[in-house]
This record gives sequence, C-alpha cells and structure tokens, in this order.
Amino acid sequence: MRILAVETSCDETAAAVVSRHADDSFVTVERSVIASSALLHQKYGGVYPEVASREHSRAILPVIAEALDLSAKDTSRLPKAVFRDIDGLVVTQGPGLIGSLLVGTQTMATLSMVTKLPLYAVNHLSGHIYASFIRHNEEDASPPSFPLLAFIVSGGHTMLLVMEDHHTYRLLGQTRDDAAGEAFDKVAKLLDLGYPGGPQISALAQKGSREAYRLPIGLEHEDTFDFSFSGLKTAVLRLVQENTPLTARQKADIAASFERVVVDALLLKLYRALDRYPVCDIVLGGGVAANTYLRDRLAALLRHRAMPPRLHVPPLEFCTDNAAVIGAAALFGNLESVDPAQLETCARLPLVSSYHERYGKL
Ligand code: KG4
Ligand code: ZN
Repeated sequence: MRILAVETSCDETAAAVVSRHADDSFVTVERSVIASSALLHQKYGGVYPEVASREHSRAILPVIAEALDLSAKDTSRLPKAVFRDIDGLVVTQGPGLIGSLLVGTQTMATLSMVTKLPLYAVNHLSGHIYASFIRHNEEDASPPSFPLLAFIVSGGHTMLLVMEDHHTYRLLGQTRDDAAGEAFDKVAKLLDLGYPGGPQISALAQKGSREAYRLPIGLEHEDTFDFSFSGLKTAVLRLVQENTPLTARQKADIAASFERVVVDALLLKLYRALDRYPVCDIVLGGGVAANTYLRDRLAALLRHRAMPPRLHVPPLEFCTDNAAVIGAAALFGNLESVDPAQLETCARLPLVSSYHERYGKL
C-alpha cells in the first residue's frame, strides 16, 4: 500500500509518500516535503493563524507536487500523478488551527473525489506516536511492540498513554494548562529569543548552569500522571522582572534551569507511569522529543531500571510536524476510509474519545 499524506495543522505545509508491505512492521518514507511559515511568525512570538492559513493555501499544491516527484510548478499534473502511483490518500483531520487544517482537508477531499482514491482521516497526535513505526535505517529490525507507553510532548500537547494495540489509546495523564512545547515557546518570548522557542532555549541552555535557579515542578507531589507548566512559566516571568535588564549569563542560566525543570517534570511522571505499567516499550514523539537534553536524560534514566524498556525516539525530522508520520499512522490497524464529501475538520479532536467513538476498539 502506497499513500500520499498531507499535514497542515499548524505552520508546516507538509506532504509525503509512504508505503508499507502487508507483512512489514515498519513504514518506509519515499519522499517527505515540508514548507514552514515559522519565520513569518517570528515577530509575533507564536503562530499567527491567518498568516499560517494564507501560507498553506500558497504552498499546498507545490508541496504535494514535489512529494509526487513532480516539479513544484507542475501542479496541473497532480491528479494524473496521484492516480497512477498511489493507492490511498490521508490527511490530518485535527486537532489544530481550523483555518490551517481546512486547507489540507479540502485539498485532499477534492483530490479524492477527482481520483476516486480512498481517503483516510488521521488524528495529528497519532502521527507523533507512529513516527516510531517508520524504518529509520537499513538495520532497523524491531518496531515498538504492545503494550507500550506513548509519550507525546509537542507544542500543543503533553500526554502519557498506554497502547495495547494499534489505534487503541488509554489516557494516563495530560497537561492541565500549558503543553511542554508551549512552555518553551513562552519562556523563549520572555527571554527575547525567537519562535519556535524550543531549539533556541536548548542552544542557550548549553552555556548556562542547570543549578543556577530553583524553579517549581508542577504537580510534583500529587498522585497523578497529569502535568502542569503554567506555575513554572510564572516563576520564570518573576525572575525576569526581578533581574531586568538580564545579563547574557543570567539569560543562559535561566534557559538551562528552565530546561532542566521541564525535563525533571516529564521524567518524574514517566517514571511513575512505568512503575504502574511496566511495559517493555516506550515511544516518544512530538516537537519537544527533538530536545537533546530530554533524549539523553530519558535514555540514562531507563538504563538504570532493573528491566530497561526499549526506547523508541524518532529522528529529529520526524519529531516536529511532517506528513510522513500522518501516513504512517494510516498504514496500521484497519482504518476505515471516509466519504470525502462528509469529511469533518476538527480544531479539537481528542485522541482517546475519537477512536473510542469511531472505531470502538478499546
Ligand atoms: O510537534 P510540533 O512540531 O507541533 C505541535 O504539534 O505542536 O511541536 C512544536 C513544539 C514547539 O513548541 C517547539 O518549541 C518545540 O516543539 N520544540 C522543541 C525543540 N524543537 C521543537 N522544544 C524543545 N527542544 C527542542 N529542540
Ligand atoms: Zn505536532
């Protein structure tokens, strides 16, 4: 099965061609193309929704054309190219910015009507999980096995889930306020670093001391797998206000101390979840999974457990938003195709209840 996938939930216009043989436990990425409007959002310190939708409309057809190995200008040949080489179409249905999502869903619904190819709708969050089911190198022989713990750390979500099978999700905990990536972005704004904040904070943190400032871990002592990052953000705000104007040294120390506490908070809950659900496999996904300090600390933490679970972390290009992971999600389980004329686009689309209601598997 060879499919064309499209993702437009935030500020990346992405298309990919991915495939999977029936007996293979991995997905292969043939082409993955991304046009990001992130630079245009820099001056706003976050994604400006109207700008994002306009850029998606501009980029969507050229990006799909490139994913199909045509030149970006060759969009008139799209339906033919799709019809010749592709067995199915998949698109992110939600959650995300509605104006952004609509560009992807409308384009793919139209392409499905024109070509008569089946259309699949995928939850963006499942894409972050299925990034770990992509074959990353020639030797990759062991995909994640069930039951597994899935840990999504992105700009919009922070979630711990147990999966007993493909597309069956049991929610253990999630953030009660800001997502981990959102906290990175907001603190980056306080420190006058650009958007997206994660990579900037991470780079600056290398030059600072992780012990310089004592910052709070949200819900540290509560018996829950939930997370909270808004208290941490407020503590950084106070620190910035008390020390303005910040020296370069202070900025680096704040970045390093902040990054340490975010990772402390994430690992604390993951560790507790592992005690309760001692699975053999952990899947990490989402933009914050690109954070080297998090990846290193998590690997070190797992090494010290009596029965270390296998950790699956996607390569950087499949941590942040892209279409290959959306395609990967559609190639497992028996997702039913949707009628393109009836395809709903959902700014809010809970991962757990959507699959409960739609596919009734748990
Ligand atoms: O998954 P993603 O691309 O989009 C959403 O689905 O939200 O995640 C974007 C988020 C942003 O908040 C960005 O600051 C964060 O991921 N991020 C990072 C890093 N790279 C991206 N956070 C920390 N360290 C990084 N290296
Ligand atoms: Zn994402």
